[in-house]
Amino acid sequence: MLAAVGSAVGLGNMWRFSYLTAEYGGAAFVVLYLAITLLVGLPVLLAELAVGRGAQRSPIRALAHFGGSAWRPLGAVFVAAGFLILSYYSVIAGWTVRYALHALLGFDGDGVVEYFVEIREGWDAFGFHILFMAITIGVVAGGVKRGIERTALVLMPLLFALVIGLAVYAATLDGSAGGYSYYLAPDFSAIFSREVLTQASGQAFFSLSLGMGAMMTFASYLERSAHLPNESLVIAFADMGVAFVAGLVVFPMIFALGLADAVIGTAGTERDVGTVGALFVTLPKAFAEMGAGGRIVGLLFFSALLVGALTSALSLLEVVVSAAMDGLGWERRRAAVVMGAAVALLGVPAAWSVDVLGVMDGIANTIFLLGGGLGLAVFVGWAMQDPVGEVSTGAEGVRWFFLWRWLLRIAVPLVLVFVLVDAIPKTFQSVAALFGS
Ligand code: TRP
Repeated sequence: MLAAVGSAVGLGNMWRFSYLTAEYGGAAFVVLYLAITLLVGLPVLLAELAVGRGAQRSPIRALAHFGGSAWRPLGAVFVAAGFLILSYYSVIAGWTVRYALHALLGFDGDGVVEYFVEIREGWDAFGFHILFMAITIGVVAGGVKRGIERTALVLMPLLFALVIGLAVYAATLDGSAGGYSYYLAPDFSAIFSREVLTQASGQAFFSLSLGMGAMMTFASYLERSAHLPNESLVIAFADMGVAFVAGLVVFPMIFALGLADAVIGTAGTERDVGTVGALFVTLPKAFAEMGAGGRIVGLLFFSALLVGALTSALSLLEVVVSAAMDGLGWERRRAAVVMGAAVALLGVPAAWSVDVLGVMDGIANTIFLLGGGLGLAVFVGWAMQDPVGEVSTGAEGVRWFFLWRWLLRIAVPLVLVFVLVDAIPKTFQSVAALFGS
């Protein structure tokens, strides 16, 4: 279960959560994200855990085990999602490596925007992307994943403690009030925006590592006595908690440090970094303001974030590698090297342009993960024999499983179809716009 928390907590909680919150209007997005995590994410998470533990095999085989070979295409969607997500995830992890190294030298507080603009794309981004992929491949090929996960056990609490400390520090800064109202006081008209709902759903799935069989893989190692509802609650609350507190760091700082124009403000000027950089310009500026101590705090923060990114990346590559081992009969080392190299190649355009990165991120979340989640909900809700019997094992006495089943059958598919109908054409338009520009 700790490995599952390691997969969930990563760049999604820090970089992507603050990026989307800034992009989609602040508090309204946060409210929808929390609501979707509980009403849609949690039931799908429990479904993944039930299928994984019940089948005791890798995702594609697990689907076939419970549903027959007609469900194989869903497994293919899972693998494709892992492939695509890791390819650009590694670019952002590459920025993180870069920032961890630079933290030691100290950031230049006046140049944080320019610095991010300089390193986020081009040869620099490419080099660190390849470096991060090489590390990820090495860990998966060498079978030392367990060791890394154990390291993460120590570093994840450190990351969380640092984030809490930084949230307290942010509260002491002059001018932080604007950040709290942006982050916490929702504009109710935006809550009823379908676009914000779509993005909040994608974020809930991304952050929980849902919709592509990653959680299923972890669950395949669980004992039959494991209490799945409790496990799913721990994973979901740990993940939401880290994201929520990260927002309490980033948004007050954006306002207090005078970055609101550059990050949230209108696009078009050369200095504008856009919301993608919310995390990567704000924290370095704060570390620079802290003086010498800021170097240590900055180094610790970006190193811990990097370990979080690595455990998430491992879970993504693992899904692809185990599919290659099962499906093509390759041995682990070969599967890791060949598949990892292909992923690294696919990430090159994302390293070259943040616009491409944004479009890949949109495709992955709003089509693959939400589509995969819809497939899973229908699978467990309608196709699988006796899912309630499966989740009840180890959790006897829990009375709300019938509710879970009906959420999966009706409510979750309705929400996901509603969101996908909106998202699919928009995603195609964003791809077209990329080629048009
Ligand atoms: N959840 C991770 C994060 O927040 C990213 C991630 C890891 C992921 N494995 C995944 C996302 C599987 C979707 C599916 O950084």
